[in-house]
Amino acid sequence: MRTPFVVGNWKLHKHVADALALVTELKNQLAAVKGVAVGVAPPFTALYPVAKRLEDSPIAVASQDCYWEEKGAFTGEVAPGMLKDVGCTWAIIGHSERRQFFGETDDTVAKKARAALAAGLGAIVCVGETLAQRDAGTTTAVVETHLGALRGLGVEVADRLVIAYEPVWAIGTGRTATPGQAQEVHAFIRGWLGKELGPAMAAAVRIQYGGSVKPDNAAELMRQPDIDGALVGGASLQAADFVAICKAARPS
Ligand code: 13P
Repeated sequence: MRTPFVVGNWKLHKHVADALALVTELKNQLAAVKGVAVGVAPPFTALYPVAKRLEDSPIAVASQDCYWEEKGAFTGEVAPGMLKDVGCTWAIIGHSERRQFFGETDDTVAKKARAALAAGLGAIVCVGETLAQRDAGTTTAVVETHLGALRGLGVEVADRLVIAYEPVWAIGTGRTATPGQAQEVHAFIRGWLGKELGPAMAAAVRIQYGGSVKPDNAAELMRQPDIDGALVGGASLQAADFVAICKAARPS
């Protein structure tokens, strides 16, 4: 069985003091919560202090991006090995905001995911269509193209590979996909995993839903058979909301 995995993507929020205050609350409030794996993805500047504060906690630390080279003349970039060095165990790769604002492409997503996994990090690879693509009926074609970044990956990374289905039209809009809409795409993704990477990968790889997940819609989304947790933006910035979502993701 797949353990649900809920990750808070803090995006461009929180200085170190606020980051530490939030994870200290999460650590305390989630200490007795079983059956769900939890992670936080602070901005780069807070990774090290947050990871230090969470050293004695099962809450994992993820970066929001990583580069594909380990070192060299690449001003501004951060290598997978550097992320491990400061206590990260996961990296979010290919978030739609990086595609939209920072020129991320299918090719760079593939390189980053492979580099993160090769360095021993887990990779949370984001896929998802825009509203125009959904309206044009190309949702599964777009998602399939995004999934191309994973071609050739083997079962040895099954527990470190997570796919986040994030319909772009549901991110930060308050307009979440219905559980049925989300499940339909999640089932398509699991089918693709089976066809392209084999049945063991289809059975083991976790598929998170992301896009306006809130305490009041999380339980129904998480009940869908192919939804294995959430990638949470806005609602991960407040301990109470994020804890409620983590609790809602536990198997019933
Ligand atoms: P919101 O939860 O704010 O819609 O953001 C979702 C997201 O982009 C998580 O990566």
